[in-house]
Amino acid sequence: MVRIKVPATSANVGVGFDTLGLAVTFYGECEVELSDKLEITGCPVAFQTEDNLIYQSYKYVLDDLKRPVTPIKLQIDSDIPFARGLGSSAVCIVSGVLAANELHQLHLSQDELVKYCTQIEGHPDNVVPALLGGLSASYQMNDDIFFQHYPVDESYQFVAFVPDFTLETSVARGALPESYPLKTVVANQAKLLFLLDALKTGDAANLDKFLDDGIHQPYRKTLIDEYDIVENIAKESGAKGFYISGSGSTLMGVFTSQVDLKGLNISLSTLKHKWKALDLSVDYKGAEVCHRTI
Ligand code: HSE
Repeated sequence: MVRIKVPATSANVGVGFDTLGLAVTFYGECEVELSDKLEITGCPVAFQTEDNLIYQSYKYVLDDLKRPVTPIKLQIDSDIPFARGLGSSAVCIVSGVLAANELHQLHLSQDELVKYCTQIEGHPDNVVPALLGGLSASYQMNDDIFFQHYPVDESYQFVAFVPDFTLETSVARGALPESYPLKTVVANQAKLLFLLDALKTGDAANLDKFLDDGIHQPYRKTLIDEYDIVENIAKESGAKGFYISGSGSTLMGVFTSQVDLKGLNISLSTLKHKWKALDLSVDYKGAEVCHRTI
């Protein structure tokens, strides 16, 4: 049996649309073992079928390698909410790919794991940090997947503002224009370079300006009710920067000082929607196979 632990992720990080992704200290775990029939527990009944994304990802790898798809007993233990921009599907995909690798002793290389996870997800910006931890840039060009780690100064704390409503990535992508003015693109690429430096050095003086994206956030914030109010609450509590986590609906505040989580949650409790503030750090370990008894 293997126990697999995978960090949630916060993709885009403002100006890194479809490229940057950050692993955070919030985890989805599961226990998997070979069995004589598929058995899934720990998730809603609707996901206890062959369509379960962890099982589908496990099967994808074995099908691709032309190995028999042995049924599994899968027990899921995860609080990462679905369709909130915290990489819940990447966590499932990485878990399934690692389950195939471990239970069938496939000895896949890091590049092969990244390739399978990206093929299943369709883009690498969530699966790479979920698998490898830390802050990474990743991008698929034809058959090549490039990924690169970037340092994040330990003074940074990330507070996820998680609402009670979902935002499907397909809907959030549908809100984006087909093309952009040249000056918007140039501004984003300049800010991305400065953002990486601010994250590396811990110099947060202009973090808010460097996170201020023109590619996806202006179009998506209108889909996230109470965006402006939550941003104000975060900034009044000392957030040095603020951005949409992944494609939303979670919003992320970046802090450099002690976070008053209790105070934040009290302020959030006055809002129309139920928001929960989670105090997170960068996860540097990435996915771990925590326990193995066979
Ligand atoms: N980069 C993707 C998007 C992340 O923003 O649409 C979704 O997981």
